[in-house]
Amino acid sequence: MTNRPSPALTRRTFLASAGAVIAAAGGVSPLPAVPRARAAGPREFRLTLGTGSARIAPEPYPETEVWAYNRTVPGPEIRVRQGERLRIVAENGLDEPTTVHWHGMRVPNAMDGVPGVTQDAIAPGDRFVYEFDAVDAGTFWYHPHQRSFEQVARGLSGALVVEEAEPLRVDRDVTWVLDDWRLTEEAAIEGDFGNAHDAIHAGRLGNTVTVNGRIPDRFAVRRGERIRLRLVNVANARIFGLAFAGHEPLVVALDGQPVEPHAPEGGRIVLGPAMRADIVLDMTGRTGERHTVTDTFYEGLEYRLTDLAYGGEALRERTPDWPVALPANPLAEPDLDAAERHEVVFNGGMMAGMRMQGADGREAGSMMAMMREGSFWFINGKAATGTDMEPVLTLRRNRSHIISMVNRTGWYHPMHLHGHSFRVISRNGVPTARREWQDTVLVGPEERVEVALVADNPGDWMFHCHILEHQAAGMMAVIRVA
Ligand code: C2O
Ligand code: CU
Repeated sequence: MTNRPSPALTRRTFLASAGAVIAAAGGVSPLPAVPRARAAGPREFRLTLGTGSARIAPEPYPETEVWAYNRTVPGPEIRVRQGERLRIVAENGLDEPTTVHWHGMRVPNAMDGVPGVTQDAIAPGDRFVYEFDAVDAGTFWYHPHQRSFEQVARGLSGALVVEEAEPLRVDRDVTWVLDDWRLTEEAAIEGDFGNAHDAIHAGRLGNTVTVNGRIPDRFAVRRGERIRLRLVNVANARIFGLAFAGHEPLVVALDGQPVEPHAPEGGRIVLGPAMRADIVLDMTGRTGERHTVTDTFYEGLEYRLTDLAYGGEALRERTPDWPVALPANPLAEPDLDAAERHEVVFNGGMMAGMRMQGADGREAGSMMAMMREGSFWFINGKAATGTDMEPVLTLRRNRSHIISMVNRTGWYHPMHLHGHSFRVISRNGVPTARREWQDTVLVGPEERVEVALVADNPGDWMFHCHILEHQAAGMMAVIRVA
């Protein structure tokens, strides 16, 4: 109800239909190859940040001025094997400081890329060398953690795939980096970053949705083909709800972590900002057919994302019977009976009469004062400004913990914890069916979600909403593991 994106979304239809047909937005990346491994030692990569232009909207629109890693939007897909060590040199060619955060990767704290918490921001012209092991196999991504509401929105993000020692057997392994841009009629990025309206509502929802940096028209497939599709939501604020008409996707991993293979609830795959899903998709259509992939998340604003376009020869007539379950990652299993309990309460955002639900008089008064200063979201009554990052919780190391997240707002919040994955164990008191491991959990309006984890990665870790405008307007905190 209240979570309506701006009506500007309709402009996307205009952009999408006005132009020429674009080639399939598949897994084949047009990007220059990232330097390959040396014989031994870490795999080396280089990420150079700079400005450039990208063809986001089709002709006759001009190219869009972007900020990019290695001059491509999204940045190059980094791909390694589980157990390998990565060494990534990030060179800042922007005019402002930045960092790189490896979203979902369980890295040592000093490699986590949070300015003022785990490192100093990388100044313009400087570099920082990140080095860490790929502990978990799965689909991850990277992005700046410095003024991310603008840096990410201008094009800085990329996928990071860690392959299993023995990957699932499929015909194609494809990544779709899903993004959402707010473009002008000239296909330039709107410069209205950090405005209060976005901050207090659903965040910076755009009007142009892309797959791997392009407005997709069709995705070429063949009958009988089995595809592992890695969906990554790098949008600032848009939640996707993808339905594959005529097909039966099986979700095999969420946020990089294997999950018992299952059909998505309600037939659509819901991904809040920063979330990922790996799906196994069997192409059961017939040559010549087109089947639509629709995003149905926001009621009344459904749109066609792309089509699965069947061409060429059928690959096989029957669905392969290859296994779809992924091997588990080395995550410590929380002991729910022995777990220590914690609660975090979210307040804020636009609401009727601006009352602070669930807050007592004094707390509500102090939140109102902070709102006058541009902080609109609160975790346990506090809006973080980035300077005073005293931990909201301290978790005893190597113990099991249950964190109960209580959303006293009328809005969705994809809540992300750095350095760990957690099991989502209940929603509104009802145990979840699959106790999925996530690093980002979408908490619905007025919902209470419980997660459980073993706090086995020491350090100060960010815990924040991944709607980047909510984060910037206070919805972040530090959770200390000590
Ligand atoms: Cu994807 Cu704190 O970030
Ligand atoms: Cu939020």
